[in-house]
Amino acid sequence: MSDATTTRQSYQSINFADKLARFTDHWQPRVIAEMNDYQFKVVRIEGDFLWHEHADTDETFIVLEGELRIDMRDGFVLVSAGEMFVVPKGVEHKPYAEREVKMMLIEPRGVINTGGETNERTSVNDMWI
Ligand code: NI
Repeated sequence: MSDATTTRQSYQSINFADKLARFTDHWQPRVIAEMNDYQFKVVRIEGDFLWHEHADTDETFIVLEGELRIDMRDGFVLVSAGEMFVVPKGVEHKPYAEREVKMMLIEPRGVINTGGETNERTSVNDMWI
């Protein structure tokens, strides 16, 4: 027997705080969802990152907790909880968090977090949580 009741699905929303509570390390983004070719990732950061750029894509930062500073060669921006900023494709940038920041990144699947270079801050890609 199959009707609307027996085939009903249970859908689950994605809670940012729940996802962030599942890990404590820094600079290791976790994928929480995809939309077409784009991935939504949550990450904790603290301290300084490295200068880098993404030659093929913009990069979106949405701050959930804390205050993020993003330096660019010609200035910087402060992004507080509840705010977002989009770094344009090809623009060198360096995220910095004096105290721990929890945030979400939106970028195409396959983007390397350290841009055109690989170094000790390069994280594993496609790490789902
Ligand atoms: Ni970047």
